Amino acid sequence: MSTATKQTNKIDIPDLLEGEGWHPLSWNQKEITQLPPYPDTEELQNAYKELKSLPPLITSWEIEALKEKLAQAGEGKAFLLQGGDCAETFDACKSVKLVNMLKVMLQMSFILIHEMGTPVIRLGRIAGQYAKPRSKDFEEINGLKMLNYRGDLINSIKPDVDARTPDPQRLVEAYEKAALSLNFLRALSDEGFADLQYPQQWELDFMQNNEYYKEYEEMVSSINKAIKFMDTITPNRLNTSHKVDLYTSHEALNLFYDSAQTRRVPRKQGWFNLSAHLVWLGNRTQQIDGGHVEYLKGIQNPVGIKVGPPFDLDNMLRLLDTINPSHEAGKIVLITRMGHDMVKKHLPTYIRAIKQNGHPVVWSCDPMHGNTYATGENVKTRNFNDILHEIRETFEVHRSEASYLGGVHLELTGDNVTECVGGANGLNEAGLSSNYETYCDPRLNYEQSLEMAFLVAKEWNKSYR
Ligand code: PEP
Ligand code: CO
Repeated sequence: MSTATKQTNKIDIPDLLEGEGWHPLSWNQKEITQLPPYPDTEELQNAYKELKSLPPLITSWEIEALKEKLAQAGEGKAFLLQGGDCAETFDACKSVKLVNMLKVMLQMSFILIHEMGTPVIRLGRIAGQYAKPRSKDFEEINGLKMLNYRGDLINSIKPDVDARTPDPQRLVEAYEKAALSLNFLRALSDEGFADLQYPQQWELDFMQNNEYYKEYEEMVSSINKAIKFMDTITPNRLNTSHKVDLYTSHEALNLFYDSAQTRRVPRKQGWFNLSAHLVWLGNRTQQIDGGHVEYLKGIQNPVGIKVGPPFDLDNMLRLLDTINPSHEAGKIVLITRMGHDMVKKHLPTYIRAIKQNGHPVVWSCDPMHGNTYATGENVKTRNFNDILHEIRETFEVHRSEASYLGGVHLELTGDNVTECVGGANGLNEAGLSSNYETYCDPRLNYEQSLEMAFLVAKEWNKSYR
């Protein structure tokens, strides 16, 4: 069991607290894990009110459109590519990083579409992925005991007791950074993004070391031909009718952030979290009577649910009944993150149980979070082969259970970082220090991400072609 904190501030906003039943703050009356108390409740309350008064980042129409597309993925007619940083930081809200992230997601999706011949839903861990669960509340640095870093939404990574204190102003700053990121991503997707598809933008030399290099090269050249052809017959295709859609997602962890942006929408039923298209329930906040589950059961957005150790199947089934009692299609993405050597043992039981109780879900595989380890030098990393192994085993189990694996969930970046070992460019542990940037978990870099997309498509084809 996690040692992480179980209580947080109670906030008192009379207009929201009226009446019985669910409302955006009803979670605040429950026990909650992974959300440390803010020392100053009044300041928190003011920040909450400010955030609540600001305009939404996204719209209910977009949320509904995503849910419809996810329903397609649930039926085997589309594939979900969810990816992005483990922890976004406020400092990384920069042009080049956003361009690189959009570029890698777009190129990965082109690979999947081209190789699989199925629509791909792009969903970034972006524009809000600022809060992190931790296994310990405290750490000791240079003899000083301080709170652990929990993401820029809560405190600073600076190893300083004051900087580590939860700061309510960060709620508003996160909203601002998310808005700036989203504004730029939307502009890139609408206009001016077309050049990212051209051949010179595909940096492929690294793949020469991969056994599939020839196939890969042919695929990219064929994607380029297809793009050029479409451009000739319908110029500006990407700028107009075929806009690039990139949906956003984050873990609904700091519920002060999410609930302040949970609103009613005219002429629509229910409440929408207008800070992201999809939010997910992390592996450590799944207590059925806890605050996170209470919050998630009241919103209209699609919800991701991580599935991993301690492999509590009953709890998982209760989560489905609680968060999606009406069995709405496209509502739930089950994101398995078991660890490469656990998939065969546990996944079949889940698939069978969910089939039996009739819940429509989109199955997705997160091959990252069960495969993290520390090197001898104590650097957190993941091995490309373990990640691939989990993907392969997951496809294999779905295939043998006649079930559709409808997505992958990856921690990745468009930058040339050195955080995960392996892949065609053969990064080894000694090379990790050359460009290790992440504040939290290690991500696939640009090359590793493209290679992974190619290998995912190969696995999908084995199962569903
Ligand atoms: C994450 O997705 O960054 C994460 C912390 O995952 P999990 O809850 O599955 O450990
Ligand atoms: Co992570």
